[in-house]
Amino acid sequence: MKFSEMRRVTVEFVRQRIKYFIVGGVAVVVGLGLAGSYAFVVDYTSSLNFCAHTCHEMEATVYTEYTHSKHFKNEQGVVVACAQCHVPQNNWPGTFTHKVAASFELWNHFVLGESNPVKFETRRHILAKKVWAEFAATNARQCKACHKYSNMVLEDQRPSIRAQHTDAMKTDENCLDCHKGLTHKSMEDAPPPPAKGAAGGFDVQ
Ligand code: HEC
Ligand code: HEC
Ligand code: HEC
Repeated sequence: MKFSEMRRVTVEFVRQRIKYFIVGGVAVVVGLGLAGSYAFVVDYTSSLNFCAHTCHEMEATVYTEYTHSKHFKNEQGVVVACAQCHVPQNNWPGTFTHKVAASFELWNHFVLGESNPVKFETRRHILAKKVWAEFAATNARQCKACHKYSNMVLEDQRPSIRAQHTDAMKTDENCLDCHKGLTHKSMEDAPPPPAKGAAGGFDVQ
């Protein structure tokens, strides 16, 4: 086929199907836009800045405690962000479900008015229990993304700690069985939950 002939056939082919080309093109652009926006929202709402400073009840409580913990300040200057413990990492379906569930927090904050730190304190242990349940369900997957029993240099640990970890390693035990209240104020001895039916409630994902 001659070049001019080829060009004619191609132009004709495109002309007949121009609608599909336009629709396809628009779909690709919209798709990329949506994917980009989704990635932006996930990144933005997972940042330490967003988690810590968007809601006053977080800033004055869990965030302040966290800034005194070793996961914020330590000899090496490593910072572990809220999301690294609280949001499934490198697992997009997990992240997506987490974000959808977490958006219910907005309801608690704006509609139920649970936005002041004093009210927050009265409900915290409920949230802590939810977080413990999540870690139990994943066997502390988030902790183990950074800390592996098999990579611990047990000889460098104090004998009492070494003994605990040697045992824990055998069953790949959930870190929180022994390490509750590490980053935030301990909720283990918190007062009992308010009576059922009491207004409000937070959700933490
Ligand atoms: C993103 C990585 C990362 C994640 C996730 C993480 N850690 Fe750590 N953790 C570190 C680093 C880095 C240090 C070392 C800080 C230092 O030098 O003391 C540390 C220190 C610790 C320490 C010793 C200091 C202390 O606070 O007593 C404990 C215990 C600990 N982590 C437990 C946990 C548990 C339990 C989890 C899950 C709830 C967890 N970590 C999640 C990185 C992480
Ligand atoms: C059977 C109980 C138990 C389990 C399970 C456990 N730990 Fe510990 N761990 C301890 C005790 C006790 C200490 C010493 C006191 C402390 O720091 O809370 C300790 C200390 C540590 C330290 C500080 C070590 C040092 O030399 O100062 C790190 C880091 C740590 N644990 C990480 C973890 C991680 C991560 C997990 C889960 C993968 C885990 N531990 C599971 C009992 C446990
Ligand atoms: C090293 C892991 C880790 C980091 C970093 C971390 N958390 Fe937590 N968070 C936990 C665990 C584990 C719990 C369950 C309660 C407990 O054991 O302290 C918890 C509980 C909570 C709760 C429930 C209320 C409570 O007091 O228990 C909130 C809200 C929360 N975290 C928010 C945050 C925010 C906001 C940040 C960052 C400023 C953050 N967390 C950083 C591990 C972490």
